[in-house]
Amino acid sequence: MKAAEAQTQVSDYWTRRAPAFDGVASHVAQASLWRDVLAAAFEGEEAKDVVDLGTGTGACALIAASLGHRVRACDGSEGMLAAARQAAAASGLDIAFEHALIEEASFAPGSADIVTLRNVLWTLPEPMAALRRAHAILRPGGVLLVSDGLWSVAAQYRSTYPEILANSLPRHDGLTEEDARMMLAEAGFGPARSWQHLFPASPYPGDVPMFVLTARKG
Ligand SMILES: C[S@@+](CC[C@H](N)C(=O)[O-])C[C@H]1O[C@@H](n2cnc3c(N)ncnc32)[C@H](O)[C@@H]1O
Repeated sequence: MKAAEAQTQVSDYWTRRAPAFDGVASHVAQASLWRDVLAAAFEGEEAKDVVDLGTGTGACALIAASLGHRVRACDGSEGMLAAARQAAAASGLDIAFEHALIEEASFAPGSADIVTLRNVLWTLPEPMAALRRAHAILRPGGVLLVSDGLWSVAAQYRSTYPEILANSLPRHDGLTEEDARMMLAEAGFGPARSWQHLFPASPYPGDVPMFVLTARKG
């Protein structure tokens, strides 16, 4: 399957899942733990320009905005974004959401201090392109925060993508921390630092190996 067709199917899948996503996603039940980990990983409390790529229902964007940062976010699925917009309005948070693919969103080069990419790499037809885009959006010295997991170890975390779509996504099984470190280096980032040890227990019931890494643009 061509990357463009795979991407269309991925966006359609998330729009279908959007109405129920926040009800099943563990990050919603664990929002305050994620808030603590992201606050630590963002290092410093002064307001920064944050861009959340593949924001979904806006979980990371909402946390970043609640920490006082200026947040922009994009997603390829209008259905997921509708939930994100509603959540931001309900929380009184001002977040600039854009319905766009990571590769096509209007974020100017060198316009962000922090880019976040949580649980998105596994579902991209071209994950390296997203890391390169994140690198371009960051200012020199800016930080990419990437989090994902080895979803293939637990059935409850697998997507229900059709097999032909799943087979066209190079990281559909998920990623280990080691995989992510190699990809970050390949995309031009400096050494990565891990933060998942700050969770008192795995944030994903079932003990899926997961990571939260930050790496700086040189
Ligand atoms: C598993 S959800 C994660 C959402 C959010 N980052 C979180 O942590 O809750 C994956 C999201 O990535 C989005 N997505 C997939 N490919 C994308 C792309 N190329 N550009 C923008 N968003 C994309 C999907 O629409 C979906 O909302």
